[in-house]
Amino acid sequence: MSLIHETDFGTPPSPSAQMVTLEIDGMAVTVPVGTSVMRAAAEIGTKVPKLCATDSLEPFGSCRLCLVEIDGRRGTPASCTTPVEAGMKVKTQTERLAKLRRGVMELYISDHPLDCLTCAANGDCELQDMAGVVGLREVRYGYEGHNHLDAGKDTSNPYFTFDPSKCIVCSRCVRACEEVQGTFALTIDGRGFASAVSPGGTDFFASECVSCGACVQACPTATLMENSVIEAGQAEHSVITTCAYCGVGCGFKAEMRGTEVVRMVPWKDGAANHGHSCVKGRFAWGYTTHKERMLKPMIRSKISDPWREVSWEEAIGYAASEFRRIQAKYGRDSIGGITSSRCTNEETYLVQKLVRAGFGNNNVDTCARVCHSPTGYGLSATFGTSAGTQDFDSVMQADVILVIGANPTDAHPVFGSRMKKRLREGARLIVADPRRTDLVRTPHVQADYHLQLKPGSNVALLNALAHVVVTEGLVAEAYVAERCEPMETARWRAFIADPRHSPEAVEAITGVPAADLRAAARLYATGGNAAIYYGLGVTEHSQGTTAVMGMANLAMITGNVGHEGAGVNPLRGQNNVQGSCDMGSFPHEFTGYRHVSNDAVRESFEEVWNVTLRGEPGLRIPNMLDAAVDGTFKGLYIQGEDIAQSDPDITHVTAGLAAMECVVIQDIFLNETASFAHVFLPGSSFLEKDGTFTNAERRISMVRKAMPPMAVYADWQATMLLSNALGYPMNYRHPSEIMDEIARLTPTFAGVSFARIEELGSIQWPCNDKAPNGTPTMHVDGFVRGKGKFAITEFVPTEERSTARYPLILTTGRILSQYNVGAQTRRTENVVWHEEDLLEIHPFDAEYRGIADGDWVSLASRAGETSLRAKVTDRVQAGVVYTTFHNPETAANVVTTDFSDWATNCPEYKVTAVQVRLTNHRSGWQDRYAALREETTRIVDPAAAE
Ligand code: SF4
Ligand code: SF4
Ligand code: SF4
Ligand code: FES
Repeated sequence: MSLIHETDFGTPPSPSAQMVTLEIDGMAVTVPVGTSVMRAAAEIGTKVPKLCATDSLEPFGSCRLCLVEIDGRRGTPASCTTPVEAGMKVKTQTERLAKLRRGVMELYISDHPLDCLTCAANGDCELQDMAGVVGLREVRYGYEGHNHLDAGKDTSNPYFTFDPSKCIVCSRCVRACEEVQGTFALTIDGRGFASAVSPGGTDFFASECVSCGACVQACPTATLMENSVIEAGQAEHSVITTCAYCGVGCGFKAEMRGTEVVRMVPWKDGAANHGHSCVKGRFAWGYTTHKERMLKPMIRSKISDPWREVSWEEAIGYAASEFRRIQAKYGRDSIGGITSSRCTNEETYLVQKLVRAGFGNNNVDTCARVCHSPTGYGLSATFGTSAGTQDFDSVMQADVILVIGANPTDAHPVFGSRMKKRLREGARLIVADPRRTDLVRTPHVQADYHLQLKPGSNVALLNALAHVVVTEGLVAEAYVAERCEPMETARWRAFIADPRHSPEAVEAITGVPAADLRAAARLYATGGNAAIYYGLGVTEHSQGTTAVMGMANLAMITGNVGHEGAGVNPLRGQNNVQGSCDMGSFPHEFTGYRHVSNDAVRESFEEVWNVTLRGEPGLRIPNMLDAAVDGTFKGLYIQGEDIAQSDPDITHVTAGLAAMECVVIQDIFLNETASFAHVFLPGSSFLEKDGTFTNAERRISMVRKAMPPMAVYADWQATMLLSNALGYPMNYRHPSEIMDEIARLTPTFAGVSFARIEELGSIQWPCNDKAPNGTPTMHVDGFVRGKGKFAITEFVPTEERSTARYPLILTTGRILSQYNVGAQTRRTENVVWHEEDLLEIHPFDAEYRGIADGDWVSLASRAGETSLRAKVTDRVQAGVVYTTFHNPETAANVVTTDFSDWATNCPEYKVTAVQVRLTNHRSGWQDRYAALREETTRIVDPAAAE
């Protein structure tokens, strides 16, 4: 086996470059201009020894191990930094080179501890490998004199250790932090022998480091090393899978010892991440084996009873008999199901199938209801498809990037890093956000415009941007004439040109200076390829759908849809939000976004499912809860969601749950919703099952079982058990059979199968006869709906207004280290960065209320009241407060209201009128909830029960 990694030979050149032929060790090789000699040598199977080069980083030329001889040139140039030339004659192996390389290695080793046998990197250390490759047999210099062997370790980061005594100062870590991650946390301090890696003169924890681990991955020695490897040793085998956190969908190699994860290494061939990751995917996997994992099914007849552990058979039988009892008593529509964006496509598909075919109604909804349902509606209405238009790599072709209502460096970090790379290359940036996100100003990146709009004014802002384009003659006329519906275009142009949409007219609404808005519009329209990336700051509003259509309008009118570097791109929150929507989780749609009232579509499902299906949409989540409070909805099967924490107006949510007679929760932890449940089915983590996730690029990637399900069954198997107990047979032997059924019933998935994904690595739908390898960019030759449709997007202010009683506006978001309701990340070391939700408040508003940094404050709205600690910061504008929603103890959603998007019921999380006051006690809700939680999470001790 070669000790030099096959692909570690510097950045590959562009495939379209001109070719040159040269000779290496007597063999002719033809490679593109710009290729390094090292890579050219690799093309013919010659692996030049190296230490500082790696394919994820630009060549650096510091270690001097890759020396070669070139005819006609003096000296021994470094092959990693020397570009090929036509006719060049290179020698990679000569006596002189061998001696020089041994000398270089000897110097490294003379200042390196000789503890290979006990070193955690033993067997996975490039220094060790290279010492063997260059044939170093003795070290003449010894340890006398100056050395770095006593340098102390930095163990401040919870996930990795920095042991400078093993550092060879190759700068790979520094370059990884700059080039791949874009954080610039590391430097090389000092010169010559005294040079050393430094996280900004402090320790890693106190530095700017965001714990992405890119430096650890790049380090060729054991200097930067995962603590899990130090503790457990090197892995024995690995399994390629997909991250279970955000919608970037990073590919990972789960490195295993038996059934234990040793480390997660971002997969170099992962098309979404190209070998990079964030702190969550790489390090925060400890929750999968956390001691609080629930591994036994449980039942109880009342939520005030303690839980009783039972067999799977008893739990499933009880759930099925309760659901049938309820339907017999209250009617077929009295029960429903909720699918999860944290589960696989196959699992989600089965839950909606169970509801439609087993329950006999369409009462199925998904957590996308509360995040990206407006994306589906808005993009479908304008373009014809409920999904983003690009792949992530497309951002590298963007000249102007408009980020609106999204915080990619926290919520979609790997994509955030890619975007920052493009920005460092010179792309221009417009950020529209009420808050000063990191992207506005970060090392080597500065937004051209930060449109710091008031929460709730997205539509006014987007209309004003489009108004400038239309009224200043910046329309892509030929594109629009060819690709958009003429009547609708004319109608919309007349609408948007109205002076009421001008930046000046909406300045009071948006709070954005008209001149900035005009300049940003001109930049977007004329700066080259312009791409829009957006998040929940757009969708979670009463006009979420209108804003999505507003972005689609803006992209179409400037010709920015249908090619690389452009498009309208939702940054999906959870890993499988796209998939859960694709899989027919909505009450009105089958897989592939086809309405249940479509007879032909319904008949195709009836034929395969062998059952008669309803043609009327079922209940959405808020409707289910309303009906529960009204007494007509009595049973709910929830797979992998925690609506008692994640959904708005928790008081209403919990009232609905408490009014039901049978709530079945399937989860890996006893989550907040389980307090209101009667049946608990233990879930399986992403490491315990096979299946697929679909990321924000419509990319379907494999999730592979790395260990057996800890609670016996994977989630798809548990759903099958429930369905069979209800009398609707499901007998899949493997999730691949479920995907085969999905492909059979869904035109956009017709070409998808596990075998095909294995073959291609991943597939972006649509994948069918027309696009057998999938579709990276949508709407290339025309819109999916035929002609693009401009939608009228009248700005209608939300009814949620600040008042004398509630004078501030609360908006919510995420933080890098935590994820969604925090159920996973709160059970990892990530809590060292964020152990509680904080309320960001502007210094002006804080001073007015006598609030200092760290004070406990009450946060109250007309929906409820909670309390949390204040963080005084000018990241938020005066009049606006901000918090995250990762912690059930602070429960930000006690405060959020029941206002929602007009089209989809997506809650208006981003605008809540609140009052903030200094307090010294928990809110009444928190006290009541703590007591309820204590009562409802009791489990009968099996020993005591006997
Ligand atoms: S972990 Fe990431 S952010 Fe931190 S120093 Fe390493 S590369 Fe930089
Ligand atoms: S810490 Fe590792 S990657 Fe960084 S300079 Fe030292 S040996 Fe190279
Ligand atoms: S960016 Fe998202 S998908 Fe990638 S590792 Fe981080 S959490 Fe996982
Ligand atoms: S690998 Fe070329 S100088 Fe280090």
